[in-house]
Amino acid sequence: MEEIEAALDELQRVVDYLDKVLPSNAIVFLRGDLAAGKTTLTQAIAKAKGVMEEVTSPTFSLQHCYEGREGKDLYHYDLYRTTYEEFMKTGLVEEFEKPGWHLVEWGCKRLKDFLQSIGYDVFTIEIEPREKSRIYRMEA
Ligand SMILES: Nc1ncnc2c1ncn2[C@@H]1O[C@H](COP(=O)(O)OP(=O)(O)OP(=O)(O)O)[C@@H](O)[C@H]1O
Ligand SMILES: [Mg+2]
Repeated sequence: MEEIEAALDELQRVVDYLDKVLPSNAIVFLRGDLAAGKTTLTQAIAKAKGVMEEVTSPTFSLQHCYEGREGKDLYHYDLYRTTYEEFMKTGLVEEFEKPGWHLVEWGCKRLKDFLQSIGYDVFTIEIEPREKSRIYRMEA
């Protein structure tokens, strides 16, 4: 387990670690309470991948795709308002096949289990708030 404490202006340290450990295609579940910092970390990752668009949470569309530098695409999911059954009905689960990093806010255990059962690795980042920073716990 790797643990990094980072304030808003130190998120690059978390991004650098992820660049080191994650393959070019990856599914990452971002875990943490409301306002833990899941979207903020996604924004930092997007910036590092050269995404020019503004990254906002895809609350109603469930997923946004951002084009990064040379094929470093980024997919961002926010499943807060969606049940597992609803998500499966949308067919969006097929998107996980697409190359790039897939960052998932509020992905449930059932979805993680399902993805693993069909052969995907699911990497998890736990975010714990501190007053002026966050602790990011990641698999080594
Ligand atoms: N590393 C950090 N250090 C200090 N503040 C942070 C850090 N990361 C995020 N924040 C702050 O936490 C607040 C909530 O961030 P964010 O919207 O990313 O949370 P979230 O986990 O996506 O929330 P939600 O569950 O509502 O989607 C923002 O004000 C953001 O600036
Ligand atoms: Mg969010």
